[in-house]
Amino acid sequence: MFEIVGKKELTHLVWQIEIKAPRIAKKRKAGQFVLLRMNEQGERIPLTIVNSDDEAGTITVIVQEVGKSTSILGGMKVGSSILDVVGPLGMPTHIENYGTVVCVGGGIGTAVTYPIGAALKEAGCKVISIVGSRSKDLLILEDEMRGVSDELHITTDDGSSGHHGFVTDVLGEFIKEGLKIDLVIAVGPIPMMRAVSEVTRPSAINTMVSLNPIMVDGTGMCGACRVTIGGENKFVCVDGPEFDGHLVDFEELVMRNRSYFKEEKMAVEEYTYHEGTRCYDKKGDD
Ligand code: FES
Repeated sequence: MFEIVGKKELTHLVWQIEIKAPRIAKKRKAGQFVLLRMNEQGERIPLTIVNSDDEAGTITVIVQEVGKSTSILGGMKVGSSILDVVGPLGMPTHIENYGTVVCVGGGIGTAVTYPIGAALKEAGCKVISIVGSRSKDLLILEDEMRGVSDELHITTDDGSSGHHGFVTDVLGEFIKEGLKIDLVIAVGPIPMMRAVSEVTRPSAINTMVSLNPIMVDGTGMCGACRVTIGGENKFVCVDGPEFDGHLVDFEELVMRNRSYFKEEKMAVEEYTYHEGTRCYDKKGDD
């Protein structure tokens, strides 16, 4: 059993959760994830390790309540325990001093961008970050991103903070101005990662995207995360989660990501009915 030792709501239904898991805290590297199973009947959910504290023996994950299992986790209190936490899993991000790196985080994807940005900064890169969300109240980890970045740019779709528009507007400006960019790392909703890859394609800027959203059980067994990368079949949970954005077949990825929508909706409805809990409108207490 793995105890929850800290919990805070970052924005509506998005939780930062600290879990006691000393062995994982010792081994984990930027870009890796853990599999969580809350109870015997529960499904496994993959979550990126946002941070770890070797001394305290804890790891930090961020979860957004979007379905049954994430709602169960979001509703758990400090002091309660998660049945299984397995990891660290996935290939770590390749970290080296690339030069100038632009780290793009969209919405909850910033939870993945942050540890990568931190590791790149530590390796000596110049880190320029662009963090975007629909509105100011949905921005997460702004201070943390500022702390690991030489420059931080905020964008919101509604203009309530920073640039009024998309992360790709700012990235496009950098490219237009002739900024020498050695690597772009983009993590967020699939349309955003696709758009970033299209913006960097004409200048052939090395672009990595993290395809975490496609993962289901994260074990390499279910096959749900199969993607086509440069014409080859890959499994996100085993071969990734990071891939060259210019080689990803985004068309197929979008289709695949919708595969379990009906089943997930049914699970949420059943959970809501039986547990009397509203997954999408539940305020946690801790
Ligand atoms: S998430 Fe199931 S095989 Fe990768």
